[in-house]
Amino acid sequence: MEKIFKAIEKSAKEIAKIIDRDTFSYSNGDNISGDHQLELDVESDQIIEDNFREIESIKAISSEEKDELLQLHESGEFLISYDPLDGSSLVDVNLSVGSIFGIYKDEFRGSNLVASAYVVYGPRVELVVATNDVKLYRLANGEFHFVKTLLLNEKGKLNATGGTQQKWHSHHKEMVESLFQEGYRLRYSGGMVPDLHQILLKGGGLFSYPSTTDKPKGKLRLLFEVMPFALIYEKAGGLALDEKSKRLLEVEPESLHDTSSCFFGSKYEVSLLKKYYG
Ligand code: AHG
Repeated sequence: MEKIFKAIEKSAKEIAKIIDRDTFSYSNGDNISGDHQLELDVESDQIIEDNFREIESIKAISSEEKDELLQLHESGEFLISYDPLDGSSLVDVNLSVGSIFGIYKDEFRGSNLVASAYVVYGPRVELVVATNDVKLYRLANGEFHFVKTLLLNEKGKLNATGGTQQKWHSHHKEMVESLFQEGYRLRYSGGMVPDLHQILLKGGGLFSYPSTTDKPKGKLRLLFEVMPFALIYEKAGGLALDEKSKRLLEVEPESLHDTSSCFFGSKYEVSLLKKYYG
């Protein structure tokens, strides 16, 4: 897997460069989830595809920006799902964005997810890799340097929740409100990567993207966003569940672009799900 991590580092450096460019425009397409693709999404996707194509152990890749699975090497053992530039519309307002990767053996199932990684493009470029533990690296002088191992506390202080509030179910509203009543502070930029990164680095809290009346299965994609982060949060000592309190790593995607409600955080906050969602 070392070669895969190196390809992720190389892609991150190349994507950071194209984000720095002074202008960009919309491409002509929409992706399968109906999001309008920015040129940056398309270019980031191509960068990652080109770098993964070089690695013979990769059998196939699936990207949020591609409708279908792309076969690479028949003899390969790994499958990779990735979101090349999550939250790309935030580049326009100069907020942080990220790339997310899930590395699976043989099949796209949570139990086969052997490693995950994400990159945050913010004031700094940082890489987080989860295998048996969760490690933070920072880009400096053209290379990624190890910073520290990340671990969540039992309980945090931050509360980040997505979706249109008008469309939230009442039990979700009550859960979110109960955390504010306990003194939790709102932190939500609208970028999954920086929002989850903040909670991870500050030691805990809750990130939730619930099912809503307009999106009964939530918004975030299981393969490209949810499962990679589920592994990272579990390996950091936290929890990652859907609204039925099922481990997200046990949810079976029905299709490549399937979505799910999701709750990530330290143990105390995610355990509140049972009380409010039943
Ligand atoms: P996209 O994949 O279209 O860039 O969307 C970003 C995602 C994710 O990064 C973030 O957590 C969520 O959408 C925010 O959605 P809401 O604005 O509905 O809260």
